[in-house]
Amino acid sequence: MRLNLKIWRQTAPNAAGRLEDYVADHVSPDMSFLEMLDVVNEGLVKSGKDAIAFDSDCREGICGTCSLVVNGVAHGPDRGTTVCQLHMRRFKDGETITVEPWRAKAFPIVKDPVVDRSAFDRLIAAGGFVSVNTGGAQDGNCILIPKDVSDLAMDSAACIGCGACVAACKNASAHLFMSAKVSHLALLPQGQVERTRRVVSMINQADAEGFGSCSNEGECEAVCPKEIPISNIARMTREYVRAVTDSRR
Ligand code: SF4
Ligand code: FES
Repeated sequence: MRLNLKIWRQTAPNAAGRLEDYVADHVSPDMSFLEMLDVVNEGLVKSGKDAIAFDSDCREGICGTCSLVVNGVAHGPDRGTTVCQLHMRRFKDGETITVEPWRAKAFPIVKDPVVDRSAFDRLIAAGGFVSVNTGGAQDGNCILIPKDVSDLAMDSAACIGCGACVAACKNASAHLFMSAKVSHLALLPQGQVERTRRVVSMINQADAEGFGSCSNEGECEAVCPKEIPISNIARMTREYVRAVTDSRR
């Protein structure tokens, strides 16, 4: 396959960025999207040009590091798929593909399509621990959790913190990400001690980081590679109302 690429290039956080044209030649349909970019970069390096910076780590859809908007969609056209698991067979020979960064005030561009997602780390730090009794481990059979509840908690824990939900949202809201963390812990007995403090602290931190609020468009759910449902956002809102109401009693 031969593909025409329009890739966002930006040398530094405050430099002007622009879409630049590249040609990716001899692309196998079995290559992943990132492998295709690796080949383009090999060509750039061989000709003495600056390689295109992009984030990746596991390349197996489990770490949340990859972060490209492909043809206007965070993580590209395949539902429930990270861009590292997107394959070139999804595109047609001769097609033009646009590659851009996550665009959100809270995710400033570092270089090319690489953005700084440390705001997510601070959200986790704001709300993400549980208190446990030290000493001998409690017998798991003494902590009874209904199967449907443990399934919901596990599904929420599947969030890989990629930030596609923020990139897809017109408000750059982190609600889907936060609601996955809040739901995961609020549903389980182990998360009850900090349940009230956690949700308030995370939402306050999201405001401080410059993430927007939620207007229920569902764009986040549509691009989430782990298919985290927006029903989690409803649960987080209930948790927040409960926490604020409790604090006023
Ligand atoms: S909710 Fe989905 S899109 Fe958002 S950070 Fe988690 S895995 Fe990524
Ligand atoms: S590189 Fe780890 S999820 Fe894509």
